[in-house]
Amino acid sequence: MSEQQHRHKAGFETRAIHAGYEPDPITGAVIPPIFATSTFKQDGVGGLRGGYEYSRSANPTRTALEGNLAALEEGEAGFAFASGLAAEDTLVRAVCRPGDHVVLPGDAYGGTFRLFDKVEKAWGLAHTAAPVFDTAAVGAAMQPGRTKLVWIETPTNPLLNIADIAALARVAHDAGALLVVDNTFASPYLQQPLTLGADVVVHSTTKYCGGHSDVIGGALVVRDLELAEQIAFHQNSIGAVAGPFDSWLVLRGLKTLAVRMDRHCDNAERVVDFLVGHAKVGDVFYPALSGHPGHQVAAQQMRRFGGIVSFRVKAGEQAAVDVCGRAEVFTLGESLGGVESLIEHPGRMTHASVAGTELEVPGDLVRLSVGIESADDLVADLDRALG
Ligand SMILES: Cc1ncc(COP(=O)(O)O)c(C=O)c1O
Repeated sequence: MSEQQHRHKAGFETRAIHAGYEPDPITGAVIPPIFATSTFKQDGVGGLRGGYEYSRSANPTRTALEGNLAALEEGEAGFAFASGLAAEDTLVRAVCRPGDHVVLPGDAYGGTFRLFDKVEKAWGLAHTAAPVFDTAAVGAAMQPGRTKLVWIETPTNPLLNIADIAALARVAHDAGALLVVDNTFASPYLQQPLTLGADVVVHSTTKYCGGHSDVIGGALVVRDLELAEQIAFHQNSIGAVAGPFDSWLVLRGLKTLAVRMDRHCDNAERVVDFLVGHAKVGDVFYPALSGHPGHQVAAQQMRRFGGIVSFRVKAGEQAAVDVCGRAEVFTLGESLGGVESLIEHPGRMTHASVAGTELEVPGDLVRLSVGIESADDLVADLDRALG
């Protein structure tokens, strides 16, 4: 599909399958090869073919993925990295300098918080955590002139809070900062932050984009070409790039993103119906619920409400740990966004690194990544696990 066609907005599913790659002019291969090469023959010194010289700078399999991601997020440029955290670190170094400040989500993914708190802080980058569902509180956390990034997740991990992307973009821009949206939980199928005013989209492509729990990867997508140039420079200078095989896996995953996400959402809705009102379950966190404080905003900015559900177990922390241990169809494990359902205890697993900080999560919380198995089997498994 030509650049022009995807700019003129073919449907999401069409872009997911075609954007970023034209069938190979020589062989007609409809899927990009895995260009397992570190270097490229030059036609005379400096005579690069298609701009390729060395695979850290650019590799054709990665280029296909980067073009596809840009088309799906409706951005101008995409960048693929070795992990979500590598993407985040590269972005920070491209935009921030010692003495700058960033605003982080009050319930950020633990690894993101650790990156800022234990790594970036030591390089002189200050941070303040603010609840992303409270636009005024985020505004109050900003230090005009010093705050370079307002970083949000929506929905957040693991409490499924919802941030108003358009309102926060205005708050960030008024103070001269960029709005960064970690779109990992929603995926580009459910939400496109750049169209709502955000400046940068971050993904852990390890999750829904890859979709099959077989790859670690990350991405940035931006709409401003100057920022794109800065990121391209830092991507090459730091070198935490996605390799060709990993790029190929994520690109393959993206082709089925739309159908997978619809099934994740269908199944999550069934699971939520089961959990709400269950005698042993306390609060259920899922933005489709009309009582969820972010429901209205989520309904406006998301196509559907996603595949992640969290809930509290009334009998407390040990009971929550036991539920995780008893599940069978839900595999006990970290990560999310794959075709298989996963269950975890955030307090002792994904969010153990924020224990004792202002980001600590409730001990009785269980997080589900609802997969695309038969919904009846998922509900029966939770019924058994809850005892
Ligand atoms: C919301 C979110 N952002 C970023 C990351 C980091 O991505 P990666 O594990 O690919 O480095 C994760 C990982 O779980 C995540 O859940």
